Amino acid sequence: MKRILITGANGQLGQCLRKVVSESSSHVFLFENRAMLNITDNDAVFAYFHKHKPDFCINTAAFTQVDLAESHRKEAYQINVEGVKNLIEACEEFSVKLIQLSTDFVFDGAEKSPYLETDVPHPQTYYGQTKLEAETWIQHNLDAHYILRTSWLYSEFGHNFMKTMLRLASEKKKIRVVDDQFGSPTSGIDLAKAILAIVNAEENHYGLYHFSNSGETTWYGFAKEIFEKSKLNVNLEAICTDDFPTPAARPNYSVLNSSKFAKTFQFELRSWQKALSDVNKWL
Ligand SMILES: NC(=O)c1ccc[n+]([C@@H]2O[C@H](COP(=O)([O-])OP(=O)(O)OC[C@H]3O[C@@H](n4cnc5c(N)ncnc54)[C@H](OP(=O)(O)O)[C@@H]3O)[C@@H](O)[C@H]2O)c1
Repeated sequence: MKRILITGANGQLGQCLRKVVSESSSHVFLFENRAMLNITDNDAVFAYFHKHKPDFCINTAAFTQVDLAESHRKEAYQINVEGVKNLIEACEEFSVKLIQLSTDFVFDGAEKSPYLETDVPHPQTYYGQTKLEAETWIQHNLDAHYILRTSWLYSEFGHNFMKTMLRLASEKKKIRVVDDQFGSPTSGIDLAKAILAIVNAEENHYGLYHFSNSGETTWYGFAKEIFEKSKLNVNLEAICTDDFPTPAARPNYSVLNSSKFAKTFQFELRSWQKALSDVNKWL
């Protein structure tokens, strides 16, 4: 039985993990929200690790508002980089394995085929820069680590594209969605199961991994599938990125190749369309 700390437990992924482990698990899970454990407070982090002695730390805590990060750089840096540095120090001191979540936004989108872990990152947003800097700190300072880059996360919890689309469907006559950015929608539940596969693995396979549901689409394609799966009749219009300017420029292409993860942890990847079928259970 392992003791597993989850930081940022009130966030989308934290809640997905809570749901997945409530269904089955033989470990002790310590779900801590920001009020219980603020990762930017070095003393609090050390006191927590000293007292609770986790075997794993799953860091889902992050500043995740991509556009807001452009104007709130100090806060984004404090959480996404300084907070992670505190966890690295504590993990090193107390021999804890760190599972860090990262993002497809470390890439610039210039590729035309799914990104591998060996591809060179080149973030275009401040959020992406902070997440990449955290990756680098981990890789240079803590051997016992797993970095999982994921993309286009959605679930019944928190704020995400799928929930926004379902809300807009009840508010608007017509919905316009960008059709020239490509990525892989990823079920938060599938990601939570992937994280548990790391925890349950008999051997340590430390390193950097990509994890998303398989296949690719655009935001428009994702929205279309959400409405089809949920049997909502919506007037959906495909638009270009130029028609929908945002403070942070998203990569045009950020599909991740997750084969390394699937092979290493013998994890069966679901297609993004199959995973999205769960939407019917949540409605
Ligand atoms: N969402 C996506 O599409 C996506 C895509 C790629 C990668 N990721 C990565 O996946 C991870 C999980 O994302 P998510 O969607 O679950 O994010 P989320 O819903 O925004 O959750 C993040 C949580 O972190 C908490 N937090 C913020 N600062 C903290 C601090 N100083 N100490 C402790 N907790 C703190 C937040 O607390 P409050 O609720 O109090 O603000 C929030 O509950 C993140 O690392 C993110 O970068 C997400």
